[in-house]
Amino acid sequence: MERKRYIRKVCLLGDGGVGKTSLVHRFVEDVFNDKYIVSFGTKVSKKVLVFEDVELTLMIWDVLGQKGDDSLHAAYYKGANGALLVGDMTRPETMEHLKGWRDDFLKVEKDARLVLAGNKADLEARLTEDELSSLAQELGADLVRTSALTGEGVQEIFDRLGRKLMGGA
Ligand code: GTP
Repeated sequence: MERKRYIRKVCLLGDGGVGKTSLVHRFVEDVFNDKYIVSFGTKVSKKVLVFEDVELTLMIWDVLGQKGDDSLHAAYYKGANGALLVGDMTRPETMEHLKGWRDDFLKVEKDARLVLAGNKADLEARLTEDELSSLAQELGADLVRTSALTGEGVQEIFDRLGRKLMGGA
């Protein structure tokens, strides 16, 4: 049977150093490169997911994590179908800041779908289970613990986002 093909744009959102670039590296190339530390400008990576009779191409936009330049962010968000919110579980403030990232993003693309990554799961988290689940509830997104270092949860978080983009829960 011929597969239906779709292309969707997704953005990576979150503070600097939480592991956005590393997660994409792990997902797209399935390797973790510790030398890839600072990212400049925007990098777009492509990954094809296959769900039953659907072939979904994700165009993954990774932009500078620094806050401040709202006009740049709005241009980057334009046309996005979804976003991966990434926080670093060893730095609770980066998880808290995701509310601001989400609000700014939804101002530009109000119908976009969201998933939430609690990254650096290989390190000791500085948030309790309760704190993590109430944050996920507040953000209206499922939380997946990920590690760009070990690969834990990486395929799962992008799969979940992909399924949401195809109309799944
Ligand atoms: P900006 O480009 O500044 O927005 O940062 P970023 O969110 O893209 O983070 P980046 O992927 O550059 O990772 C920041 C640092 O955290 C790097 O030193 C990575 O090697 C490290 N890192 C990223 N993910 C993980 C992880 O899951 N576990 C551990 N232990 N380190 C990680």
